[in-house]
Amino acid sequence: MKRTVEVLSDKAALVERSLQIVVEQLKSAIAERGFCTIALAGGSTPKPLYEAIAKQDLPWDKTHVFWGDERYVSADHANSNEGMARKAWLSHVDIPARNVHPMPTHQPEPSDSAVQYEQEIQAFFKTQPGELPKFDVILLGTGDDGHTASLFPHTDALNVSDRLVTVGNKDGQPRITLTAPLINQARCVLFLVAGANKQDALAHIFAEEDDNQQYPARMIQPEGELIWLLDRAAGEKLDA
Ligand code: 6PG
Repeated sequence: MKRTVEVLSDKAALVERSLQIVVEQLKSAIAERGFCTIALAGGSTPKPLYEAIAKQDLPWDKTHVFWGDERYVSADHANSNEGMARKAWLSHVDIPARNVHPMPTHQPEPSDSAVQYEQEIQAFFKTQPGELPKFDVILLGTGDDGHTASLFPHTDALNVSDRLVTVGNKDGQPRITLTAPLINQARCVLFLVAGANKQDALAHIFAEEDDNQQYPARMIQPEGELIWLLDRAAGEKLDA
């Protein structure tokens, strides 16, 4: 695992740098394998990145979009990660509908949606149960509590090691999330973190020793590249 930490002057610079890395990674994946796969983060930080990606001239027919996690709401709900990415990016480019793989959130039981998404990932990557596919890029954020995707502190999702997708839990609200083992298979994991409110969590996440159950983003130690992009407000006190 190669960890790179870059502190950018402000959020705009962070977005610009993340765009450069994402485009580079997707283009090289297409050059090597004929297609690329990216799993999106939710929340607010990545929205301007998605707006910027929408303006890129990428081979959308060779680009496959998945999600790293999703709130258990419909796509038209204000909190939907799918809805945010479609509004900011996907509805502005001619990407085939079959290339967009949203997490299902309509089943009464979230665990059934997790199984359904796992099967969709396995079918796409043509992997067998138990085999972990490799996404080219997985975008992540972290909360001021040190969570990432929907892997929240001291929740069962942190200990799921035999699945690709599981049910997360934020204050009793169900989420669908990729598991840490699947995220750690990615060729490139790119964290985007902005704001002074993330400083304390980052100090724990980057500490040599700390509690992974309390700061789940620590569990993200991919075999591929791990790139943390921080704005100055988030990263100024770090000596990472
Ligand atoms: C989500 C995200 C989550 C997010 C962090 C940071 O569904 O909320 O996937 O893991 O990345 O909570 O969110 P902000 O970018 O809004 O700070």
